[in-house]
Amino acid sequence: MPSIIVTGGRSLSGTVRVGGAKNSALKLMAAAVLAAGESVIHNVPEISDVDVMAQVLEGLGVRVTRDGHSVRIDASQVTSVETPYELVAQMRASIVVLGPLVARFGRARVAMPGGCNIGSRKIDMHVHGLEHLGAEIAFEHGYIDALAPDGLTGAQVILDFPSVGATENLLMASVLARGTTVIDNAAREPEIGDLVDMLVAMGARITGRGSSTLEVEGVGTLSPVEHSTVGDRIEAGTFIVAGALTGGPVTVTGFDPTHLEMLLTKLRAAGCTLDVQSDSVTVTREGGIRPVDVATLPYPGFPTDMQAQFMALMALAEGDSVITENVFENRFMFADEIKRMGADIDIEGHRALVRGVPALQGAPVVCPDLRGGAALVLAGLVAEGDTVVTDIHHIMRGYEDFTGKLAALGADVTLDGE
Ligand code: UD1
Repeated sequence: MPSIIVTGGRSLSGTVRVGGAKNSALKLMAAAVLAAGESVIHNVPEISDVDVMAQVLEGLGVRVTRDGHSVRIDASQVTSVETPYELVAQMRASIVVLGPLVARFGRARVAMPGGCNIGSRKIDMHVHGLEHLGAEIAFEHGYIDALAPDGLTGAQVILDFPSVGATENLLMASVLARGTTVIDNAAREPEIGDLVDMLVAMGARITGRGSSTLEVEGVGTLSPVEHSTVGDRIEAGTFIVAGALTGGPVTVTGFDPTHLEMLLTKLRAAGCTLDVQSDSVTVTREGGIRPVDVATLPYPGFPTDMQAQFMALMALAEGDSVITENVFENRFMFADEIKRMGADIDIEGHRALVRGVPALQGAPVVCPDLRGGAALVLAGLVAEGDTVVTDIHHIMRGYEDFTGKLAALGADVTLDGE
């Protein structure tokens, strides 16, 4: 069974460059389906979720060619509008093809995502939003069937919650709809700004980028484009926390630090010194880790995708902190694993009380999910002895060469049994 073996206690220093954002690249690839022709997306990370999205597109008859970090997507010939369960089950973000397919072809058939280990993760807002735009939706044999034979029509859609996926699906559905669509209470994550940039370059008419109200004036057709993916703020945040845990100095480049302001504020409060430049952050820490409370919220709030990594830091703080998870239910599976390394954490509902301990001990642990898996490796960097992390396919979904990048900073970390 492949595993990551970390021997704790090494100091980390140097520079690490992050790749393009996973959460953006997957949606940009889906957006390419909106235009008949070949789009090229650069700065796409080599991770398994991108492989799955490539398979989703190939299943539609789209030609996908990878060349390092560039992906060519030729959607001239789309021969199917169906995405099967075997792909959606591997990656629920596959449902983001729903919007572009209904928009361009008037129909889509996408398997319903199953339960997920991060809460129930519903899709009601995606579905209701498409219905508002005039799609007829049926649920049959485990599939969502969306039909709009005469095309979609612009409408006002107010989301119950600023869902990232629903905002993206509705944005991609509305760019080819007749008339004006207003998406209210839209998510404001930087990856949505990146999607808006690509759609606008393709010829879409969208205003309100970066705000919670997106207004889309539908156009007849879109053209293929060349676009570069925004830097991955979550990969960056993960390495910044690695620097915070080990003391640094660690410089993380290749992303926009304004996309991580809440994390950086919390790290300063925890006793880290940060040198913030236009596309990099250098983190150092000399004193002890101060306890800091955080509550996850939609952007620009504290990212839920940084919650586990921050919990690893707080596990070693000189005092108690409270971490509140407001975005997903049941996103504390990581706590059970790090407790096996000696962390003192009590979970009550969506709050975790983390009582800092002086040290963690290496232990065999299992990745609960993508970010929790990365956070276990971070904990291993400062634990006494060896930590053996298994089920690392979760980490491969979203981090390119995670162990190689950590080793280049001086970590004693190896990938075993590939
Ligand atoms: C995306 C990111 C994920 C990140 C999350 C929140 C990708 C591939 N994934 O996930 O890494 O953690 O944003 O920043 O981009 N919800 C509903 N009904 C819906 C849609 C969502 O109730 O129709 C709920 C979900 O169950 C969850 C919350 O809304 O509790 C947030 O989900 P959402 O913002 O949609 O996250 P994703 O797009 O799935």
